Amino acid sequence: MKPLTFTSSLEVYDSLEELSRDVQDLMLEAFKARDTAYAPYSKFSVGAAILLENGETVIGSNQENASYPSGLCAERTAFFFAGAKHPEMEMKKVAISAKSLQRLIESPVPPCGACRQAMVEYEVKQAAPIELYFMGEAGKVARAKSVQDLLPFIFDNSCM
Ligand code: THU
Repeated sequence: MKPLTFTSSLEVYDSLEELSRDVQDLMLEAFKARDTAYAPYSKFSVGAAILLENGETVIGSNQENASYPSGLCAERTAFFFAGAKHPEMEMKKVAISAKSLQRLIESPVPPCGACRQAMVEYEVKQAAPIELYFMGEAGKVARAKSVQDLLPFIFDNSCM
C-alpha cells in the first residue's frame, strides 16, 4: 500500500479592496451577472465572470427551472458560454459571487462539485490553470490558484 496525499491551499482576503484592480473589475462583472440570475425557486443568485486571454469577459448566472434538475449553475452557464463563443481561447480567471434573499452572505461561497468537474475540463483542455476568486454578496474573498486546487484526483480524459 502507498498512501496518496493531496494538499491544496486557498488564500482568503478580508475584502475585495485587497485584490488587484483587474480582479476587482472582474468581480464587479460577476455582481452584475448575479443580477441576471433566474432563481425564483431558491432565491439564491449566483454570478460568474470569466476573463479570457484576449481581455474579453464572458458572464453567466444561475438559471432555474420548475423541473429543478433542468436548471443550471452560474459557473457552468458561463464556462459553456465561453467555450461556445471562443472555443480556442484560454480562460485566465473567473470571479464568482452569490447572494441570498434570506440573509447577507459575507463568507466565500465555493462552487458546487458539478461545476468544479465542468470547469476542470477546460483547465485540462487548455493545459493551463484558471484562477478562481469567489465570495458571497460582500466581505471575504477566497482565491484558488487553479480549479484542480478545489478538485484533486480528477476524472478527466486520461482516465478513459
Ligand atoms: N448554484 C450556482 O449557481 N453555483 C453553485 O456553485 C452552487 C449553486 C445555484 C444553483 C441554484 O440555482 C441555486 O444556486 C441554489 O442551489
